[in-house]
Amino acid sequence: MPDALFKPVRKAVFPVAGLGTRFLPATKDVPKEMMTLIDRPLIHHGVDEAVESGCSEIMFVTGQGKESIRRYFEPSPELVAALRERGKNDLAEKIDRIHGLAAFEYAYQDKPRGLGHAVLCAEKFCRDEFFGLILPDDVMIANPTVLRQLEAVREKYNSSVLCVERVAECDVRRYGIIDAEEVGDGVFRVKGLVEKPAPENAPSNLAIMGRYLLSPSIFGCLRKITPGAGGEYQLTDAISLLLEKEPVYAVLYKGTRLDCGVKEGWIKATVIKALNDPQLRDIVIEAVRESGIHIS
Ligand code: UTP
Repeated sequence: MPDALFKPVRKAVFPVAGLGTRFLPATKDVPKEMMTLIDRPLIHHGVDEAVESGCSEIMFVTGQGKESIRRYFEPSPELVAALRERGKNDLAEKIDRIHGLAAFEYAYQDKPRGLGHAVLCAEKFCRDEFFGLILPDDVMIANPTVLRQLEAVREKYNSSVLCVERVAECDVRRYGIIDAEEVGDGVFRVKGLVEKPAPENAPSNLAIMGRYLLSPSIFGCLRKITPGAGGEYQLTDAISLLLEKEPVYAVLYKGTRLDCGVKEGWIKATVIKALNDPQLRDIVIEAVRESGIHIS
């Protein structure tokens, strides 16, 4: 087991090297993580969450065609100067804040070999610390942040913590599913995991979503796994190995998940976010009214 002294996580890993096939052709040239939700890319929403959760060091595991992610988080002195020249100082400051949100580092995944392989690429960055893992296509609306909710469980058990949600039986085949024993209100001790099971083989309907707090022991496990479901290196296989060495917990997070990795979820997320924004709410209502669709 790692250091028993509790230190809040300060590092977050964002794997962003996937192909985004479910969102093609939009993601042919624009990385999925750079798709816009209201006024900023999905990845910026994820970084805001990590920073709000106390993370000051962020690693992006990027891949081919993902250069725009790096550019987005780099300083843009020319744009900032042009905005200032036009008197748009508020906007200039907003843009200038982006590169200072955290210390950003990059690793490169040569090919999208699976989430497990992407996380392994961040080993040097994480060294021997617990770290947060954020999949930016799951946008979370939660207060406190989901990462903080996971931290509260880690504080008690000093172990890795997964974020889970109950899904409909027909949907278990889309997720990693845990076999678990409830040890507290919405907190589970994980006994096993299965990646994308058929409903008849699923040990529960508790599905793992895109936020994790992981012990550094995960890297030894990631080095041992072989390609699993879909021919990819699966993070869930490494967590199954981790379970043989250390306890792993899961928490039913409180909040709303907006699955922006697919068109349907992204549209829903845009509407929900807009309805929650006092400046945009009336525009959505007006658009629905103008469409002539009657909503009871
Ligand atoms: P997804 O499972 O959503 O895969 O990855 P994907 O390739 O992005 O999208 P689809 O399934 O083809 O539509 C979850 C996160 O893990 C990253 C992705 O970039 C995304 O942020 N990922 C996935 C990697 O970094 N490397 C991989 O090999 C796979």
